[in-house]
Amino acid sequence: MLRKLRYQFGKFRNSVFYEDFNSAIKKLDKVYPPKYVIWDATRRCNLRCEHCGATKEEYSEELTTEQVKDVIDQLAAIKTPFFAVTGGEPLLRGDLIGILGYAREKGIKTGIATNGYLLTEGNVRKLKEARVSSFQVSLDGLERTHNKIRGNPQSFQRAVRGIKRLQAAGFPIVSVATTVTTTNIGELDGLRQLLRDLGVKTWRICITMPIGRAEDNKLLLKEEKLRWLLEWTARHRKQRPRILIGENLPFLGPYERLVRNEPLPCPVGFTACCIGTDGHVRGCPEMPDKERFREGSVLEQPFLQLWKNGFKKYRARAAIKDDERCRRCANRLDCFGGCWVMREGNTQCIYELLGTQRPSK
Ligand SMILES: C[S@@+](CC[C@H](N)C(=O)[O-])C[C@H]1O[C@@H](n2cnc3c(N)ncnc32)[C@H](O)[C@@H]1O
Ligand code: SF4
Ligand code: SF4
Repeated sequence: MLRKLRYQFGKFRNSVFYEDFNSAIKKLDKVYPPKYVIWDATRRCNLRCEHCGATKEEYSEELTTEQVKDVIDQLAAIKTPFFAVTGGEPLLRGDLIGILGYAREKGIKTGIATNGYLLTEGNVRKLKEARVSSFQVSLDGLERTHNKIRGNPQSFQRAVRGIKRLQAAGFPIVSVATTVTTTNIGELDGLRQLLRDLGVKTWRICITMPIGRAEDNKLLLKEEKLRWLLEWTARHRKQRPRILIGENLPFLGPYERLVRNEPLPCPVGFTACCIGTDGHVRGCPEMPDKERFREGSVLEQPFLQLWKNGFKKYRARAAIKDDERCRRCANRLDCFGGCWVMREGNTQCIYELLGTQRPSK
């Protein structure tokens, strides 16, 4: 009963926020800043994961230190509270830690998603000095499986050592991320035990998005395997580590309330966006950096102008208007048409993924 009320309250609060957001944007006299901006710091990487989505676009140009600092000044001016970095492997940028320290000095909390390989003692000390708030380190299985998936025999040990160093240094949030695929689904119990032993509190899991090396959907969980994952999550999610299912499955159909306390609508254009490697702004780091996802470039116009005037299709909830299946679906106002990146491979609909019938209006 309490759980149902909590979920309903979350849904009500979201609907008020999204309504109000859109009307504020229309008036243009008021705009809510994004709650978090993610910077795709580089597409270079020291690993070669079998599912990696960040492999398609090659960049000869990366924003310079000064260009990123200028964006941070703009974010500080509009009071964006959180700046996160991802990639590629962000720690390959020699200026990264300095940039994170700069953001913190400007009053913005920072976070980093990393494969953990470069969490050396020296880097962890510098990250502590830069007062980074949160870390997400990837672990995709136990040692053999993780190393096979990530294409590097040292990657597991280095990631685990990195997690231990972050914990010893006393960072407030050290979470683990796992992309669950047909390769590693059999190791979830073992991995869960490892994370318990490590004392990890939060475990973010997701299934593959149809991008980069995972474009052919061979690693994608569906039907029985996806059902198993959702039931397994429902059983374990409240114990340590707490399990959170990622935003690429924003609506879970029959499993929604078993697996989540609150709805998880897509944040793009409302509370979040991503600044790409060469300055083009798009919704999230997983969105292919292609023209149709770009809202403009921070090298050509102020960030606030992009934030105010861009992101129209997300704010208009275009998916549920343009997709014939979504238009006729009884759950469209819970799901809003699924994840935009999953739509790239037509893998956005939970009912189709589970192989069950979609409830119609
Ligand atoms: C793109 S990586 C960037 C940060 C860092 N290189 C790492 O591996 O953690 C961030 C997370 O996205 C996951 N990821 C990469 N490609 C994906 C895909 N096609 N579908 C789902 N998750 C993916 C990675 O496994 C990792 O946990
Ligand atoms: S998932 Fe991360 S570590 Fe793996 S290849 Fe992609 S960017 Fe590199
Ligand atoms: S049909 Fe569209 S709105 Fe309905 S569950 Fe599937 S993706 Fe979501």
